[in-house]
Amino acid sequence: TAAEKQGYPHFMLKEIHEQPQAIADTLLARTDPDGRIVLDELRFDGADLRSADKVYVVACGTSYHAGLVAKHAIEHWAGIGVEVEIASEFRYRDPILTPHTIVVAISQSGETTDTIAAAAHARDQRARVVAISNVVGSTLTREADAVLYTRAGPEIAVASTKAFTTQIAALGVLALFLAQERRKLFPEECRDQLARLEQLPELMEQVLEADGHLAELAERIARADYVMFIGRHNGVPIALEGALKLKEISYLHAEGFPAGEMKHGPIALIDSGGPVIAIATRGHVHSKVVSNIQEVKARGAEVTAIATEGDTAVKEHADHVVYVPEVHELLYPILTVLPLQAIAYHAAVLLGRDVDQPRNLAKTVTVE
Ligand code: AGP
Repeated sequence: TAAEKQGYPHFMLKEIHEQPQAIADTLLARTDPDGRIVLDELRFDGADLRSADKVYVVACGTSYHAGLVAKHAIEHWAGIGVEVEIASEFRYRDPILTPHTIVVAISQSGETTDTIAAAAHARDQRARVVAISNVVGSTLTREADAVLYTRAGPEIAVASTKAFTTQIAALGVLALFLAQERRKLFPEECRDQLARLEQLPELMEQVLEADGHLAELAERIARADYVMFIGRHNGVPIALEGALKLKEISYLHAEGFPAGEMKHGPIALIDSGGPVIAIATRGHVHSKVVSNIQEVKARGAEVTAIATEGDTAVKEHADHVVYVPEVHELLYPILTVLPLQAIAYHAAVLLGRDVDQPRNLAKTVTVE
């Protein structure tokens, strides 16, 4: 109803704007007075976490993309190898699992059949299962050995937005907690990184305020036959997520690729004027992404780059630049996904789509 939308025309737009608060809530009270991360809900003891030698992340759709983002943080900070897998694949495979394997099952609803089955499959093989969910007491949380809740509040729109960014934040805390318990980071380093996470809500507000320009960009996108999203490192899951968001609510054909894969096939799709959206924030792969932007530009693409404030070099290569504030390299996904959500939203509205309830989709997939 209109009252529930609190003045917003769609739940999706309301939920996009709720993200800073949702992240702040998700990060709230995760430390003790000494600044050490405490995740009491996890109920794992330090020894379990120290002996863990492998992490699998299982999830579907947007939650799977949050897992792909988290892989970088967990490997970098906690020093454990992470595999991220689509739940409907994992459940029918014979993954090598032991009591030292941690399986992180991510589901906003906690009711996605394939993710629940993947968690059960892991438990059958004696792996330890941690659920990341937004719904207290949901089926997945009851199947798991431990739960870490996102505190996004109810997400009504079929297209997931605040669940995604809160999952990334919760997984960031989990990565730092693993690093702390495994003594991979000094306590001060953990505190610094957590403080950086806590600064995100304010920075997200800044990005969300700059929305006007995105509505114009979306007009261009809405006229396209095909939209390509590219990125590298933790920009890859954001490219995948940008494409998923656009296709599910606007019905435009969109795909995301690791930018280094372009020459292995996808660049054949580029022709004059076709839109490409590139995640090109600062970091160790920045110059590589800039080269990929030049490659698609040379073939006539119209490039929109999502870049770090102050990066004037990108402007020389891209047709349009959307700036986000500078943050630690591992934290960019929470900021860079925001303009992509907005572009998808505006394109869907321009095309007259049913934004909150797109055709053929259900909010929660409780069948196979
Ligand atoms: C995202 O916009 C989707 N509609 C969808 O991919 C969703 O993320 C997926 O179905 C997983 O849902 P869950 O997190 O509730 O398990």
